[in-house]
Amino acid sequence: MTDVTHQPGPVAFPQDRTCPYHPPSAYDPLRAARPLTRVTLFDGRTAWLVTGHAAARALLADPRLSSDRMRPDFPATSPRFAALRRRRPALLGVDDPEHRAQRRMLIPGFSLKRTADLRPRIQRIVDDLLDAMIAQGPPAELVSAFALPVPSTVICALLGVPYADHEFFEAQSRRLLRGPEARDVEDARCQLESYLGELIDHKRKEPGAGLLDELVHERLMPGEVDRAELVTLALILLVAGHETTANMISLGTFTLLRHPERLAELRDDPRLVPDAVEELLRLLSIADGLLRVAREDVEVEGTTIRAGEPVVFSTSVVNRDERVYPDPDALDWHRPVRHHLAFGFGIHQCLGQNLARAELEIALRTLLTRLPGLRLAVPAEEIPFKPGDTIQGMLELPVTW
Ligand code: HEM
Repeated sequence: MTDVTHQPGPVAFPQDRTCPYHPPSAYDPLRAARPLTRVTLFDGRTAWLVTGHAAARALLADPRLSSDRMRPDFPATSPRFAALRRRRPALLGVDDPEHRAQRRMLIPGFSLKRTADLRPRIQRIVDDLLDAMIAQGPPAELVSAFALPVPSTVICALLGVPYADHEFFEAQSRRLLRGPEARDVEDARCQLESYLGELIDHKRKEPGAGLLDELVHERLMPGEVDRAELVTLALILLVAGHETTANMISLGTFTLLRHPERLAELRDDPRLVPDAVEELLRLLSIADGLLRVAREDVEVEGTTIRAGEPVVFSTSVVNRDERVYPDPDALDWHRPVRHHLAFGFGIHQCLGQNLARAELEIALRTLLTRLPGLRLAVPAEEIPFKPGDTIQGMLELPVTW
């Protein structure tokens, strides 16, 4: 057994970042306690926090850890998310075999081939948005002019959701992920569910071109999936499909602008962009706090997690395990960066990762190439970023060129 008695007392988790591209400084003691340590959640519960890279991979691949959000012992990181327990999210919130059946339906829609076919369309979307931003500026607010509309337009095209409805679903997604109260989160989910339910009903009668249309005609109408389940699947795809990537584009751009030497290197040689994207995914770890609960006792690297104990994975801390990534706080795309956990690991590993990589590469390469003079329009310290209990990113990003 690992001796935890000499480790620091439980730190509260999650906490706000002090710099948007580094883990909160309050996590520094946690970084010294690998591979597992204890943290306290908002409700006073103690959870295991996984901080070591090998332990995180082993545990995320271990079927004895459950993602079932309906379990009474499933942890929550804030009161508003505790409210979501009443309805189970698709994929992320279910275990095998249910999870396997849901994921199997979606895999073809997110294959490497399907994503590669989308690249020219993504490039057009990025070009059009930059044309509009350049025509109106400088300056510009990059989140609303570019970082959010890129993935939002792309996920609409992929799913067959009308982009004309973007203001509605973006606002509800924001409330779902960051609503001030539990009732906002609950209401946002209801609104999105009824919107997507109506869209699915419409697609039954008038098929269009999109993944949702395929799912309606190939899975719903033959009775392989029911309407309620398809609504929950559509909801996670729509929300995860735009919020995450939008945050990576805004925070990735901010981070590059704060590292001028790195940025100059990338501008000189845009072939480095795929490596830069991978390193930014590792360094920024925007989905920081993956949740599980142990179904039975699990031993990992000499520590026993008892059945019923919550387990939290801080991807930002795991992705800075110095045994795997020497000088882990540096932004360095010349290091071997594969096997980072920014997209998770195991059966729940991000379904949209091919798409996210394609969007990030195209968005960042085009932004930097077309606007060689891109810079922050206000001092970095004045730019607001998101609180620690949600996906990390910039709330606004005023830029000029
Ligand atoms: C840079 C952007 C993204 C990041 C950092 C990210 C991160 C993650 C992470 C960490 C997980 C695993 C969560 C867990 O194990 O608890 C996940 C799952 C998931 N992501 Fe992403 N994601 C991104 C983009 C996308 C996109 C574009 C989509 C497209 C629809 C997407 C759809 C999903 C889905 C459906 C799951 C659940 C998979 C399952 O449970 O089987 N993500 N994502």
